[in-house]
Amino acid sequence: MFAIIARSRPEALPGLTIERRVQAETPYGSPSSPLLYGSWGGAPVVVLPRHGEAHAVPPHRINYRANIRALADAGVEGVVAIATVGGIRDGWGPGTLVVPDQIIDYTSGRPLTFFDGESGAVRHIDFTWPFSAAPRRRLLDAARTAGVAVHDGGCYGCTNGPRLETAAEIARMKRDGCDVVGQTAMPEIALARELDLPYAAINIVVNHAAGQGDSAQAIAHDALIEHSRAAMAKVARVLAAFVAEGQTR
Ligand code: HPA
Repeated sequence: MFAIIARSRPEALPGLTIERRVQAETPYGSPSSPLLYGSWGGAPVVVLPRHGEAHAVPPHRINYRANIRALADAGVEGVVAIATVGGIRDGWGPGTLVVPDQIIDYTSGRPLTFFDGESGAVRHIDFTWPFSAAPRRRLLDAARTAGVAVHDGGCYGCTNGPRLETAAEIARMKRDGCDVVGQTAMPEIALARELDLPYAAINIVVNHAAGQGDSAQAIAHDALIEHSRAAMAKVARVLAAFVAEGQTR
């Protein structure tokens, strides 16, 4: 069974049925919400809203270690993460969907490892290709099955937030090779790799990043919420196909 790390309200994901809520505890504390066990496209799934069900936990305060450890303890096969992002690459405006294949980490001050020396163990994971090949391929296949257009590959720049970026920061990230910007992939994905959990993501562009396209002067927050809602219906179709495909393998 795969885990879906969603943003907040599971009701935003059409077709998903929640049957059981399990409060998990880990040595790092509680995850952002109870684990939501249910089914999607007729197949079992567990969903964890990373900002909490009430969307009250900001990106820099998410207990990423508790979230990933709770999912690993639940015995999931891997993780598919949903995240909204700003579009940096030319032409990637609101509504664009991306299955990223690279990351640049601009965060700071977040607890970023399970191997911080306290347990007497040090581990340097290989992170050359941070997103796992198998669930990425399955996600791309699911998008094809669902008839939803997604971009295969892109570099996700992860900023610390919760504020959005300056135009100069985005211009620098563009020079660095970032295609989208978000605030939650790190350390989430690195922690998953530390526990050998395969991880892939689907990004929803909800605004042009600061200084780009129609965000030249400012990022309109209302537009952000509206675009997110519309694109979520498409993402839900892809994920239903992704989860259902697990049933037939
Ligand atoms: N920047 C960072 N995170 C985001 C953005 C953005 O422009 N849009 C949605 N998440």
